[in-house]
Amino acid sequence: MGSRIENVIRTAVHTFATKPNGSLVNTNINHNLNALRQLLNEICPNEDLGLSRNSGQPRFPLNLFTSRTAPVSYMEIFENQTVSIGVFILKEGACIPLHDHVGMHGILKVLYGTVNVQSYSPVDLPAQTNSHSMRQSQYIKARRFPVSCISEKDSPAMLSPSDHNLHTIGTVGGSASFLDILAPPYDPDGTCGKIRDCYYYADVGEGGPCNSEIRLLKRTSCPSSFWCDSLAYGGPNIKHLHQEFH
Ligand SMILES: [Fe+2]
Repeated sequence: MGSRIENVIRTAVHTFATKPNGSLVNTNINHNLNALRQLLNEICPNEDLGLSRNSGQPRFPLNLFTSRTAPVSYMEIFENQTVSIGVFILKEGACIPLHDHVGMHGILKVLYGTVNVQSYSPVDLPAQTNSHSMRQSQYIKARRFPVSCISEKDSPAMLSPSDHNLHTIGTVGGSASFLDILAPPYDPDGTCGKIRDCYYYADVGEGGPCNSEIRLLKRTSCPSSFWCDSLAYGGPNIKHLHQEFH
């Protein structure tokens, strides 16, 4: 039996594997997503990912905050054409600005600390969910949802290709980290056939006359306050999975 993170990777690849036409191979996605959520609820950051706790600050991963200058660090665990799996580590006060996941599934499991997630869903479906048409526009309309406060005790948060797939993620009361699964992964160069880059947005006001939760989002450059450096994965050996699934 493999490690818990190996089980997560195998289940994610199984869940999100696609046919050449882009449809999912395994059609019972809700069943598979539930299995994935249960596995993520059992993940132990220390044992399963090599993220240990600092004895002086028991809620923080050891050695990940003290010497780093970037507000956010990313530890890639696994990536192929089907999924990307990694851990984001946010310093206290850090916020990942409003960005999109057009056409993607996403799962976010908080490992340490607490985050606030402000999510939006594009409206005027289906045209806006078509990544090409959405990407041609500098403005999109989106429904804004109440902020979700998610801690390590909570089950994973989900986003789908059409719902909750724009969001900001910020820390609450200290540093935080979360495991992130995206399917399909970003593909800024279109290496896998279709460009999927990450765009940033600003909420510039109401997008409808009577409903303030319909917001107008303007595409922006990445805010200078946000940048991300990378950390090496230090968990159980999963090299064989890179060979098996590439
Ligand atoms: Fe995101």
